[in-house]
Amino acid sequence: MTAYHIDGREVAAKVIETVKAATASLEKQSGVKTGLAVVIVGDDPASHAYVNSKSKMAKECGFKSVQYTLPAEAKQEELAALVASLNDDASIHGILVQLPLPKPLNSEPIIQSILPEKDVDGLHVVNAGKLATGDLETGLVSCTPAGAMVFVRHTHGKDLSGLNAVVIGRSNLFGKPVAQLLLNANATVTIAHSRTKDLPAVCRNADILVAAVGRPEMVKADWVKPGATVIDVGINRVPAPEKGEGKTRLVGDVAFAEAEKVASVITPVPGGVGPMTIAMLMANTVIAAHRASG
Ligand code: GUN
Repeated sequence: MTAYHIDGREVAAKVIETVKAATASLEKQSGVKTGLAVVIVGDDPASHAYVNSKSKMAKECGFKSVQYTLPAEAKQEELAALVASLNDDASIHGILVQLPLPKPLNSEPIIQSILPEKDVDGLHVVNAGKLATGDLETGLVSCTPAGAMVFVRHTHGKDLSGLNAVVIGRSNLFGKPVAQLLLNANATVTIAHSRTKDLPAVCRNADILVAAVGRPEMVKADWVKPGATVIDVGINRVPAPEKGEGKTRLVGDVAFAEAEKVASVITPVPGGVGPMTIAMLMANTVIAAHRASG
């Protein structure tokens, strides 16, 4: 048996079509142009690549798209002042500060200073709290977890009653919110992490296995329950000498070639969860703009 490969680019393209329609209708009905501000500090090439694709997609969706690039030596106060001015700017409905921030900047006060209604990353404690209390209607949900859940719903429907879900990783950006979403959908959820005893055995219990640890190809075939749905959130760059000296390739947290023989549904890397993160960011931004105008 070879698992069905979820095509994240195809699913993301459908989300983007909906976002474009919602953006156009908001502009037509209320004269409001959806606005997204993306802030990046420093010159990490991977972060710049992510941010450029977010800004580009925002333009494609018909948004006002603005990008602010601060030097790596920027002061905490400088970044805080930029966020404060974006909070005050009525033409901006979504603010995203790309993480991680270069040292010694402290990301937490910056994230918490973003107005919750503009926090399209879903990282503000108000949005995290709404998610934790099951309020999915008035808050904003973190983009990668929301994207991963679209795949889960496509595969299992809305109600995950009776299914065991195991999330490997407990980050605020992904592990915790996706666990809340799975729980909201009635799954029985385990959050596993680096201190979990016998991780392979815990994973083998999962009908839905979600890997978000940032360790290349850590999840092996014998960690996967036969017939499981495997969602790979890892994006790891590893050396690829077969492509030439100094070349690299992207791999997930799951050893795809072996795991796909055991799972029934699996997401590839690249082309799985990655494109969904950007699509859900666009969706959150147009939702924020609709709310601000209504
Ligand atoms: N860095 C990696 N992923 C993300 C994300 O989803 N949001 C932000 N702000 N930074 C990131």
